[in-house]
Amino acid sequence: MKAVRTITELRAQIEDLKSSLNKTTVGLVPTMGYLHQGHASLIRAAKEKSDIVVVSIFVNPIQFGPGEDFETYPRDEERDLAAAEGAGADLVFLPSVETMYPKAAKTRIAVSDVTSGLCGASRPGHFDGVTTVVSKLFHIVQPNYAFFGMKDAQQVAVIEQMVFDLNFNVEIVPCPIIREEDGLALSSRNVYLNPEERSQALVLSQSLRKTQAALEKREIRTAGEARDLLVSSIRQSSLAVIDYVEVVAFPELSLLEDEAGVLENGEPVLMALAVKFGKTRLIDNCLLYPK
Ligand code: PAJ
Repeated sequence: MKAVRTITELRAQIEDLKSSLNKTTVGLVPTMGYLHQGHASLIRAAKEKSDIVVVSIFVNPIQFGPGEDFETYPRDEERDLAAAEGAGADLVFLPSVETMYPKAAKTRIAVSDVTSGLCGASRPGHFDGVTTVVSKLFHIVQPNYAFFGMKDAQQVAVIEQMVFDLNFNVEIVPCPIIREEDGLALSSRNVYLNPEERSQALVLSQSLRKTQAALEKREIRTAGEARDLLVSSIRQSSLAVIDYVEVVAFPELSLLEDEAGVLENGEPVLMALAVKFGKTRLIDNCLLYPK
């Protein structure tokens, strides 16, 4: 595995690998580092599907809002390189902010509609930062496949819309959420939680599971009932401060009709939430299929 920091070197290394190994397909796993088993699962999925696996590690300043955690976002390059290599990466791209944004850029990629609710509503400008950096990475790496975790379900919907609208020649591969044994979805931000917050954060996955079970047993049917059950379950935790709890069609992220049964909708439905524990904002979700 090689670690590279410049765009020219990355492109040269990809070309080298392609010609020396007579290999053709490239899989890209974009990350912001502080890699955990969720990221590793994407890298392994990339390894299975593509000849050459490129992992990017870049804490992208333009997707953080004022007052968010850009400066304090956890970073550990050495550990990340070992984790990327262990999971099967061939190349790790670690650009500096100056490499990705050499001078004040005047172009932004902005996707509408699917960015208006959920995290898009509570983090204005966030998804413009994500789509701008991901489109730059797509142009730099020119991958055949790009791997994204369903942990960030809205991000998957937004990137798929961008790829469709702008004819990017890349297949987006969504990968399942990886969780701790007790159910907490893995996140680089989990390190911010103190022990009390960490234990109360379990309420997120538990509420999602409980609501999924209630829908499957037809104890509840509608999006409104599902949302109410999620909210009341999360409120059992004294430290949880709800940012949003939504039950929406996936991947459109549009509101469901009041009376429509969530599992009779004919389309997948996403239960998505963002909840703060102390200073730490956590997201989790569950995708439901018609039954
Ligand atoms: P980051 O939060 O580092 O996540 C990188 C990728 O790992 C994303 O596709 C995310 O959904 C996935 N991921 C994170 N936790 C996961 C888990 N528990 N299970 C499965 N996949 C998980 O998302 C970003 O970075 C950035 O927005 C980025 C796309 C890199 C653009 O800057």
